[in-house]
Amino acid sequence: MPPAVKVLSAARPPAMIARMVITIDGPAGSGKSTIARKLAARLEIAYLDTGAMYRAIAHAALQRGVDLADRGALLELAKSVRLELDCGPTHTRVRVDGHDVSEAIRGMAVSAATSPVARHQGIRDLLVEQQRALGRTLDSFISEGRDQGSVVFPSADIKFVLEASLEARARRRLQDLGAEGEKVTLSAVRENLQARDEVDSKQWDALLLPGAATVIDTTGLAIQEVIDQMLSVVRRHAPDAVPPKCN
Ligand code: DC
Repeated sequence: MPPAVKVLSAARPPAMIARMVITIDGPAGSGKSTIARKLAARLEIAYLDTGAMYRAIAHAALQRGVDLADRGALLELAKSVRLELDCGPTHTRVRVDGHDVSEAIRGMAVSAATSPVARHQGIRDLLVEQQRALGRTLDSFISEGRDQGSVVFPSADIKFVLEASLEARARRRLQDLGAEGEKVTLSAVRENLQARDEVDSKQWDALLLPGAATVIDTTGLAIQEVIDQMLSVVRRHAPDAVPPKCN
């Protein structure tokens, strides 16, 4: 039996610095994915996009005509597919049973179909195990999702939660979707985000307790300002973990 999930490539080879695990959690549209990718590139470490795993299962369900309300069939599907993730800092690629679905998993239809997948506790348990297994194969990495610091990697070295107002998140999301060629309205995106908030929010609640994580409200901040705040947290934790800038 081939492994259910494997890493295609990661980042730089193990460095002389201690292995570091960073988690980033927060709601859809808080800038998590963009920021996680840029921070991973800056630190030259791997990036584990766990949302892509839930999306890949939802995409497979749509492709194969699996009823999203049939919990048994959904779990069977999740158990049977072979997920492969490219955890390079600048380029997440995802394959399902050998097929590259990296772009196909980003559209609104898959986003909507991902909710029943992400709400399915059996699938969550399966993917949490797969995420931990992936983590064991990586050197330093950033893991991004909804439950990474709270459930998947509770002993992570550094935990971030990114937040932003609903309006700011809807605008960002609309911009992303526009760039991908999807025709949607701001209010449709806002409604979609609100619905997803209701499902997602409890997963990082534990990280909002005092001292549990660094919480950053990104509403009025540029991406680089958020990254600079995160870099100062990383430097405080491990000064050598931030490579000098080469320009
Ligand atoms: O971050 P994203 O939009 O790519 O996530 C896709 C969906 O998967 C979204 O509905 C939230 C869910 N998700 C989750 O429940 N747990 C994670 N660790 C990552 C994503």
